[in-house]
Amino acid sequence: MAKPSTYLMISFLLFLSLAIPSDFFLSLLRMMMIMAGAQGEIRGLKQRRRLQDVKLFVFGDSYADTGNCPKSLAISWQEPYGITFPGEPAGRFSNGRVLTDYIASFLGIPSPLPYQLRKFGKKSFAFGMNFAYGGTGVFNTLVKEPNMTTQINLFQQQLEENVYTKQDLNSSIAVVSVGGNDYAAYMATNGSLQGFKAFTESVINQLAMNIKRIHGLGVRKVAVTTMEPLGCLPAITASTSHQNCSETENLITKFHNKMLIKTVRNVNKESGDAAFVIIDLHRAFLSALKIQGNHTGNSSKFEGDPLKPCCVGVEREYSCGSIDKMSGAKKYLVCEKPQLSFFWDMIHPSHQGWHAVYSALKPSLRHQLIY
Ligand SMILES: *[C@@H]1O[C@H](CO)[C@@H](O)[C@H](O)[C@H]1NC(C)=O
Ligand SMILES: *[C@@H]1O[C@H](CO)[C@@H](O)[C@H](O)[C@H]1NC(C)=O
Ligand SMILES: *[C@@H]1O[C@H](CO)[C@@H](O)[C@H](O)[C@H]1NC(C)=O
Ligand SMILES: *[C@@H]1O[C@H](CO)[C@@H](O)[C@H](O)[C@H]1NC(C)=O
Ligand SMILES: *[C@@H]1O[C@H](CO)[C@@H](O)[C@H](O)[C@H]1NC(C)=O
Repeated sequence: MAKPSTYLMISFLLFLSLAIPSDFFLSLLRMMMIMAGAQGEIRGLKQRRRLQDVKLFVFGDSYADTGNCPKSLAISWQEPYGITFPGEPAGRFSNGRVLTDYIASFLGIPSPLPYQLRKFGKKSFAFGMNFAYGGTGVFNTLVKEPNMTTQINLFQQQLEENVYTKQDLNSSIAVVSVGGNDYAAYMATNGSLQGFKAFTESVINQLAMNIKRIHGLGVRKVAVTTMEPLGCLPAITASTSHQNCSETENLITKFHNKMLIKTVRNVNKESGDAAFVIIDLHRAFLSALKIQGNHTGNSSKFEGDPLKPCCVGVEREYSCGSIDKMSGAKKYLVCEKPQLSFFWDMIHPSHQGWHAVYSALKPSLRHQLIY
């Protein structure tokens, strides 16, 4: 990966500030709030019986949230979210399963209960808990939901209340999902071009503190995701009618990921054990979409335009899930065959999209998560 030059970074930010409507990041953040709390598919890992009592703890944003964002605010609790799975809106920012669900299924356990729904499903505590909230970052973003530090505080509280014992944590895995919300918030509130590199460093430093803290609380393995290729999200590719990923936007991702990978390597060295691993979401997105250069290859299993989302607003001011405030009429369109779309909405993969990402991740999950 070439080191992106400051010039390119600056032109990226200029591009954003010129080309993207001011409410773009707000709607991006709004869309990134997600949820739900149903069972993951139980399959795989037959041979590793001891994983039956593995516990999965999840921190981060809408790619991981399965039901923590408030019903009254999040689009993920509105139709047509959840239509494929569980069949109705249930708080996930997709038509079906998301990253957390697929990782849980890999571990052979049901998807861990969302923290907010803990009162409703005591039995499911056994499989861990999901503290991820859509729209959030390591720092405060434009949403009110808890940042990652607060999410970890909530986890610590569960430990103090003895919901989980030290022994429980002995077979535990944390997944930490960090998407673009910190960057979106930075650009919406400060956006200083000169400050961008320093901001990325502060995101990574905070993230390093967070993962060390999770490990320090007793979680054995901590897996952190690389950031998805922002330039391939439909919100960005709309400007080329979803034909090509934007190389300029992808630079922000590459810069973040490069620094992240280096930092996680150092944290591992410091700690002396291999407790920290990278889940390379970036590579998995590119592989699922068969991205070559800045466009998708012909062999993608996603028909037509793989970068095109399934669910869209009828006009620019609407998005997937929008309804007319006066009449209650639907202001969105859903594609005929969601199973052939990688992206569900402008930001989030579909059920099938996440499945393809999971398939790309699966071969490395084996040696990354099993200890
Ligand atoms: C997380 O949120 C809390 C509450 O808003 C705030 O006090 C704290 O500074 C935030 N932490 C970070 C790292 O931004
Ligand atoms: C944790 O697991 C290790 C082996 O993996 C074992 O030696 C140790 O006794 C366990 N600790 C607890 C508290 O169960
Ligand atoms: C905006 O960025 C500049 C440059 O890094 C920094 O000096 C300033 O403190 C930032 N302001 C806010 C409100 O974060
Ligand atoms: C997309 O990329 C391809 C290959 O690089 C190029 O030929 C094509 O002109 C691009 N399309 C748009 C709309 O930019
Ligand atoms: C995609 O890349 C090709 C060259 O690799 C370039 O000519 C084209 O302009 C790029 N398209 C976009 C939209 O960045």
